[in-house]
Amino acid sequence: MPQPIVETRELTKYYGEVKAVDHLNLTVYEGELFGFLGPNGSGKTTTLLMLMGLTVPTSGTATVAGYDIVKESREIRRVAGLLPEGAGYYEDLTARQNMDYIGQLNGIPKPERERRIKELLEAVGLERWADTKVEKFSRGMKQRLGIAEVLIKRPKIAFFDEPTIGLDPQGVKEIRDIILRLNREEGLTVFYSSHLLYEVQQTCRRVGFIRDGRLIATDTIENLSKKVAGVEGKTLEFELTEVTPELVAEIKAIDGVASVEQEGLRLYVHMERDRSREVSETITKHSSVILLMRPREYSLEDIFLKYYEEA
Ligand SMILES: Nc1ncnc2c1ncn2[C@@H]1O[C@H](COP(=O)(O)OP(=O)(O)OP(=O)(O)O)[C@@H](O)[C@H]1O
Ligand SMILES: [Mg+2]
Repeated sequence: MPQPIVETRELTKYYGEVKAVDHLNLTVYEGELFGFLGPNGSGKTTTLLMLMGLTVPTSGTATVAGYDIVKESREIRRVAGLLPEGAGYYEDLTARQNMDYIGQLNGIPKPERERRIKELLEAVGLERWADTKVEKFSRGMKQRLGIAEVLIKRPKIAFFDEPTIGLDPQGVKEIRDIILRLNREEGLTVFYSSHLLYEVQQTCRRVGFIRDGRLIATDTIENLSKKVAGVEGKTLEFELTEVTPELVAEIKAIDGVASVEQEGLRLYVHMERDRSREVSETITKHSSVILLMRPREYSLEDIFLKYYEEA
């Protein structure tokens, strides 16, 4: 059984009158790559800061790796790392020197520090740039350095706040690959905050959606897709060589077929129970050929919109 590593209970934060995080109940498990998704101003950064023990909640509680975020915030900062939104670097120092400084701050002894820095600069693809001043770095390179810095203390969990913001597609892919690899190969638990749906879909298995400080859904992307499919049943997508109004009408008339949507040569057949054989037979009878048949998949975008409409 996976162990919870983050648990929040009714976690709430006000900035004066502004409710930034509203009774958040969230569990993240050890080894997970958890996506924390929400539009601008929805409370992602505030949540991360509270979980790192960097700002106190107005009410509610939370633990990270078993430590209380208020009473044991020092312990949390030992076992958890944060890559802040818009992390800063010492521009006139090299990548290695930046890391060495962070390593010292974390009390890592010199020999281990040196070994770890080498290992991490390699892991984020910066080994060739180890002795280049950070002022020469692109945004993507800086972000990779930021990830390496977070990992120098071997955290159990890393919080990444919008790690790919402002990067070009290549830079985004590099960051994503690094994070996926760290999760898979090193078992690093990742709490990945982003407002970019597509990206979270590419990276994370389970996601939480936050809006106006409230968690409106948490589940695997797969399950959320099922929920968004709405009513019981499933939707099959067909791609055909020919679609006529008669064919559509006849499929609609099949008992157990709830609705049929047409987009050119593509049909989305929503069924209350499995009627795929009857649908296939009807198509064949109309001398059309099935080029493709598969369950309809919803993008995170669809899921997001659906939840936003309903929440
Ligand atoms: N230090 C602060 N003082 C006052 N209000 C704040 C402060 N930080 C955040 N807020 C407000 O709290 C709410 C949540 O902000 P937060 O930065 O946590 O959202 P976010 O999801 O990280 O947004 P973004 O995607 O823009 O980074 C917003 O209404 C914001 O204006
Ligand atoms: Mg933010």
